[in-house]
Amino acid sequence: MPLNSDTPIILAIETSCDDTAAAVLYNGKMLANIVATQKIHEQYGGVIPELASRAHQQHIVPVVKAALDKAGINISELSAIAYTQGPGLIGSLLVGSQFAKGLSLALNIPTIGVNHLHAHIGAHYLNEQPPQFPFLCLLVSGGHTQIVKVSSHLEMEIIGSTIDDAAGEAFDKAAKMIGLPYPGGPLIDQYANKGNPLAYKFPIAKLPAYDFSFSGLKTSILYFLQKQKVEDEHFIEKHLNDICASIRYTIVKTLMQTLARVAEDFNIKEIGIAGGVSANSLLRDELTQMGIQKGWKTYVPAFEYCTDNAGMIGILGHYQYLKGDFADISAMPYARGH
Ligand code: KG4
Ligand code: ZN
Repeated sequence: MPLNSDTPIILAIETSCDDTAAAVLYNGKMLANIVATQKIHEQYGGVIPELASRAHQQHIVPVVKAALDKAGINISELSAIAYTQGPGLIGSLLVGSQFAKGLSLALNIPTIGVNHLHAHIGAHYLNEQPPQFPFLCLLVSGGHTQIVKVSSHLEMEIIGSTIDDAAGEAFDKAAKMIGLPYPGGPLIDQYANKGNPLAYKFPIAKLPAYDFSFSGLKTSILYFLQKQKVEDEHFIEKHLNDICASIRYTIVKTLMQTLARVAEDFNIKEIGIAGGVSANSLLRDELTQMGIQKGWKTYVPAFEYCTDNAGMIGILGHYQYLKGDFADISAMPYARGH
């Protein structure tokens, strides 16, 4: 297939969960980054996979068109199409990957299959001052929680990960128990800003190696709320800020203490966070504070590149393009792993 230029123009598509997103990058610089968030899932308290794939189907063409228009790029100028290959919801991934393949055949340009988790970490490469290699990245999203050692743009090694729930999932499940709508992570963050983080004590799981666990926290929040509601049925309304602050404090402390251990054991002082939960204000503050204490240089992607977006798919796609790492037209999306 012909490669259009040495300065690639890449269309990137992200449809792994409940955001339909498209971006256009010129030689690794962002020209447009558009996200259509699916509101339909709010009423169900979580993402309904079948509804997500249908909504992607409705949004994908207008979102891609909007990205190309904003970038001022004609499809004939594109060098390649990067798309999220996985992990994610298979029906959602299929919409983006099939769209990318169809368009690439029509334009006679290659596709690039991008790993969604690597892309969350790659969001750092969009920073004006990206981290130096090797750096550690705490990747915290709705589906994953990992500490990753990043040795080059495309070389990433998982050092530790959750053995049960992801950090974002812990936020969202706690929010559901409190009666907050999905996704509850940002709402817990907001209420927590007005509360006392030490009002209630929840357990912090300490695992061997560098892994995380949040299922004990979930159970302890459930029992705590059940007990309090027996004594006072309005307990949650009255103490919402303190409950949220205590939950947020516990989750952030769990994450930061393991990250600090890895940084020390691997003797790495370039430290970043990525993924949806990196939008959390306490996690950002703690990273900064710990950075000052321990002499780390700390990095957080710009807000628009923390939660799911196609810009991060595009920048990883850019580096894969430079390496000649293109997808086979028969490449299948993958729901898990990799
Ligand atoms: O990375 P992301 O957009 O999607 C996945 O790939 O999972 O992450 C979404 C997750 C959700 O669980 C959401 O509640 C959480 O990120 N999240 C937050 C905040 N903003 C988003 N969690 C805590 N505090 C926030 N401010
Ligand atoms: Zn994500």
